This record gives sequence, C-alpha cells and structure tokens, in this order.
Amino acid sequence: MRTKILVTGGLGFIGSHTVVALQEKGFEVIIIDNLSNSYVQVLDGIEKITNQRPIFEQIDLREKEMVKKFFEKYNDIEGVIHFAASKAVGDSVKKPLVYYENNLSTLIYLLQELQKNSRANFIFSSSCTVYGQADNLPINEKAPIKTAQSPYGNTKQIGEEIIADTCKINLNLNAISLRYFNPIGAHSSAEIGELPIGTPQNLIPFITQTAIGQRKELMVFGNDYPTRDGTCIRDYIHVMDLASAHVLALERLIKRKEDSNFEIFNLGTGNGNTVLEVINTFEKSTGINLKYKFSDRREGDVIAAFADTVKANNVLGWKAERSLAEALQSAWKWQKRFA
Ligand code: WQD
Repeated sequence: MRTKILVTGGLGFIGSHTVVALQEKGFEVIIIDNLSNSYVQVLDGIEKITNQRPIFEQIDLREKEMVKKFFEKYNDIEGVIHFAASKAVGDSVKKPLVYYENNLSTLIYLLQELQKNSRANFIFSSSCTVYGQADNLPINEKAPIKTAQSPYGNTKQIGEEIIADTCKINLNLNAISLRYFNPIGAHSSAEIGELPIGTPQNLIPFITQTAIGQRKELMVFGNDYPTRDGTCIRDYIHVMDLASAHVLALERLIKRKEDSNFEIFNLGTGNGNTVLEVINTFEKSTGINLKYKFSDRREGDVIAAFADTVKANNVLGWKAERSLAEALQSAWKWQKRFA
C-alpha cells in the first residue's frame, strides 16, 4: 500500500512540480485545488510525465464542512503539503481581507482536522518575504522576522505562528515550514510550468512573455539600488529543486527524524543575482535579445535577498542542483509551448 499524501494547491506552479516529485518517489498523491488560480488540464501534464494521474478533488478549503468531509473520506492520509493560498503581493495590498480569509482560514481548518490524528505530518509553503529586507546576507533561519510589507507576507508570518502554537500543545502534529526564495523555471519536459493568469507580476514569466512577443518590453523596476549594477538581487531557485526539498522534508517527518515537532528551512540556491544578470543569462542561454527599459522602483521591493542554505544542506540533506541558466532555459522551453 503506497503512502497517501494530500497536496493542496497541487495544480498550481510549485504544487504541480512537487506532485511529480512525490509520485516519482512512490507516494500516492491526492490533490485538492479550487481552480481559482490554476487549470484542471495540469492533471494531464502531470500524468504525461509520471504516467500516474493523481486523485483530484475540487474543494474550496474555506468551506470548513468540506474539509471535514474530505478527511472523513480519506482517513489514511500520512502527510499534507499545503500550497493552496493567494500569493500576489501587490493584489494583497488591494484586497487584504480576501488574503487573510483565504490564507488563514484554510490553514486553520486543515490543522483542526489534522490534530484529530494520532500522528500528522504537515508541510507549510512559506516565503523569504517573512524576512523583509534582512540586515545580514545571506539570510539564515534565525534572521529576525520583520514587519510584513504586505498582507500576503503577513499571512505567511501569522501562518507560521499558528502552526508553531498548535505544535506546542499537540506533540502528535509534526510540521515543517519551507521558506522559498524565488521559484522559477519548469519541468524539463515542458509538460507543466508557471501559468500566471493575466499580466505576470513576477520577473521570469514577464521575461519569457516579452521574449515570445506577448509583451512589448520588460520594465526593470529601478536601477538605482545600492547593488553591483543598480538592480535588485534575488535568489532564483529551479522549481524542481524546490520540489525535491518537499519530498525530503516529508520523508523527514514520516521517519520522525526531526529535532523538534516544528522546524523551519530556507530554500534557495545561496546565490544572489541582479535583475540585469538574469536578463543577460537569459539572453546568453536562449540567444534571444530582450527588449527592456528601466522604470521607477516597485513599492515594497527589498534591495537584496538570498539564502544561507547551511541548515537545509546539513539537516534536511538537500541542495539546489540546477543553475540559473538551466532554470531560465526550462522557463523558455515551457513558454514556447504557448507560441
Ligand atoms: C523579482 C525582481 C523586481 C517584475 C515575490 C514574492 C515572493 C514570491 C516570489 C510568492 C524584483 C524585479 C519583477 C518585472 C522587474 N511569491 N521585476 N520587472 O518580488 O522577489 O518575490 O515573488 O510566494 O513571496 O514577494 O519576485 O519576480 O516579482 O521580482 O524588474 O516586471 O524582479 O523588482 O527586483 P519578488 P518578482
């Protein structure tokens, strides 16, 4: 009997890549997704890669009764990886209550069901956003949590506190929070990838849509930052490296290898690249000249953020393996599917 894992938001960008990595490791995956920011066709892409079609339940996790019924139906789930959340930083500033309700009520309803189990394993999708502009670089897990710059970032901070407090009084609940830096790229098969709805907020989809001619030009948000070339620095991590970290974290929880019942790991490459370096790497690795120009800084952007990966390397036994060029090439291969 294969170990059953629930992946919420499993038809989304990071969720779908993690489902592939889980299936390839022999796990049986059940996906919950409400299709508010994803497409059911992603199931076909996953099946094309792994030859296994995950069980899919279209459920809105804000429906408390639906969550309860789900766990009554699937009472042999060994672990939950919780991706389902609203994640657009700018959008969250305009609709704070939508973000607080969606990102927090769904987490609470899941944890309420999980704490009924004799042993429950829970992985939370968090973000380096919780650090804001860190005082020291690279950023390790002990870096202070700064006041959130957006309701989105605040829901990640509050979410981690909710989990920490629940784990304190519930020793049968074992949780890991994974703080992603900047996930980019696509599975090498180009059967799944990032599918932003409308105008992309994030850099890489905007680059690939500009390269394919869907966008006139890329605006680089500010070139007067105190960095080596004036543009912001981020830690861009291949989504498949991120996916493999989730499998290792889940195995750590299932084997009860963790040091405490709530652990936190930063997931990045440990390298920081400027926006201009990303553009140059994209041009070199695809042979495409990108049209871009500089514009004003974007509200809320931090100057620089990249991960100290020592804890993930030594404790989780995980290291990002793919290069920035490889990630950008995979994003481009995926974009060309929509030419
Ligand atoms: C990267 C850099 C921009 C677009 C956000 C969230 C984070 C996570 C990833 C959800 C910045 C610059 C971007 C453009 C640009 N999301 N840029 N022109 O803001 O680091 O992180 O997305 O989990 O939580 O905070 O990513 O890709 O938006 O921006 O110049 O058209 O690219 O200024 O320096 P960000 P991003």
